[in-house]
Amino acid sequence: MAQIIDGKAVSAAIKEQVRDEIARDNIKAGLAVVIVGNDPASRVYVNNKKKACEFCGIQSFEYALPEETSMQELLELIDTLNNDKNVNGILVQLPLPKQLDEKAVIERISPQKDVDAFHETNVGKIMIGNYSFLPCTPAGCMELIHSTGISVSGKECVVIGRSNIVGKPMAMLLLHENGTVTICHSRTKDLAEVCRRADILVAAVGKPNFVTADMVKEGAIVIDVGINRLENGKLCGDVKFDEVSEKAGWITPVPGGVGPMTIAVLMKNTLTAAKLQNKT
Ligand code: GUN
Repeated sequence: MAQIIDGKAVSAAIKEQVRDEIARDNIKAGLAVVIVGNDPASRVYVNNKKKACEFCGIQSFEYALPEETSMQELLELIDTLNNDKNVNGILVQLPLPKQLDEKAVIERISPQKDVDAFHETNVGKIMIGNYSFLPCTPAGCMELIHSTGISVSGKECVVIGRSNIVGKPMAMLLLHENGTVTICHSRTKDLAEVCRRADILVAAVGKPNFVTADMVKEGAIVIDVGINRLENGKLCGDVKFDEVSEKAGWITPVPGGVGPMTIAVLMKNTLTAAKLQNKT
């Protein structure tokens, strides 16, 4: 039976560290969160971000814009936030309504304030291994892996999913810690066979119950990035928890695994941004 990796506990410890450093060094840090439209899931995330800011002593600025916001209006807001000394981090909640070009919006955010690490400049820095900001969800997964006390070095690591937000940067962070990394996707041949090689398996597919016990090596660390809402309203990961937890050595639950980690790393990144900007 697998040990459960407690994302709530690990994330709480990170937020406490951020809060303590801010209080100890009397740091003034501010995060602007921009939400466009009325997506209910985005609303929940944004509210959780606000609560985490309050806990840490980070000032939060929320901009809730209507669904029909134009590109020009959004870019003007980003320009204003880029120039606002009280704002150290800017996060534009994704997905954006159809008429808005996500890529152009991300590129408009000053890389020094890009606490999501989505800007091309920051993505490039992550690739090279010279980064100020870690991408929130992959970095949260790394913290959960570290919490097991098992070293990534030399391990077979398999990431399912190749998104720019999770799969690709996740592979890079595992590689930086000397894992042997394979990225799987919808065209991978014999996916189950590749997954069975993994000492560390990260599922970021976005399909409920996609990873079954026959795809998991005995004793593996299984990190479930999926947050899927089922028709009955329940949240469910990408991993079939009941059967995989019988076989894995370590497993993250959904909810209470990777989810809370993303926000904890966001708080850490906002503190880093404030420290870097206060230096200059
Ligand atoms: N939507 C879902 N996850 C994220 C995230 O980490 N950052 C942003 N900006 N939007 C998201």
